[in-house]
Amino acid sequence: MIPIVTIDGPSGSGKGTLAKRLSSELKWNYLDSGLLYRCYAFFYSREQVNIREQINKITFSNLKGKEKILWQGNDITNDLRGKGITLLSSELSQNKEIRQKLFLIQKSYHKKPGLIAEGRDMSSIVFPESKIKIFLTAAIEERVQRRANQLRNAGQKVNISELKKEIQLRDRRDSERTHSPLSISEGAIEIDNTYENIEITIDNIKKLINERYK
Ligand code: DC
Repeated sequence: MIPIVTIDGPSGSGKGTLAKRLSSELKWNYLDSGLLYRCYAFFYSREQVNIREQINKITFSNLKGKEKILWQGNDITNDLRGKGITLLSSELSQNKEIRQKLFLIQKSYHKKPGLIAEGRDMSSIVFPESKIKIFLTAAIEERVQRRANQLRNAGQKVNISELKKEIQLRDRRDSERTHSPLSISEGAIEIDNTYENIEITIDNIKKLINERYK
């Protein structure tokens, strides 16, 4: 079996940082499923007809930790990470048909030598066969600060109390929706990432990989 580590959690819990570090150290494939939902919302808002085809035209790069997403030569990173698409992706992700459309694209990332997949339903729906399921959480205040830093780094203005409300709204929607809500799967390891040292978490996951995917 091609090994998989699934990492689920709410926005700002640090799953992106953890997943990227793991995939780059292990040289495994990396699936940022939230980014696929964001791409979907982006093309939906532009009334593109064949969204799957458009998603295939996107290229992702991450140079020295700086993410760049290109579509037909245009840099759409700020569009995808901005407020409008953030809210629209959360809204559209409640739709069962849209989730089904993205299911096979997500599955296609499961390739040798292994996969680190992050999102909301990686452990429960998309890769339930994963032998290492992580559920990452962090205190809301910490998550708001992380998101604020992300936005400031992207040159955007931040209103902390508005941002907190936005994150709480998204949390509620992502956890209470009918289809594939964010939840802790059976057998998942819950890690509170508020004060946890990422190096220790990475070491622990690598040990689990050696134990469970021999
Ligand atoms: O992880 P993110 O913030 O980039 O995700 C954007 C939205 O996509 C999020 O509000 C909910 C949705 N999403 C989802 O429904 N299922 C996933 N596996 C990943 C993201």
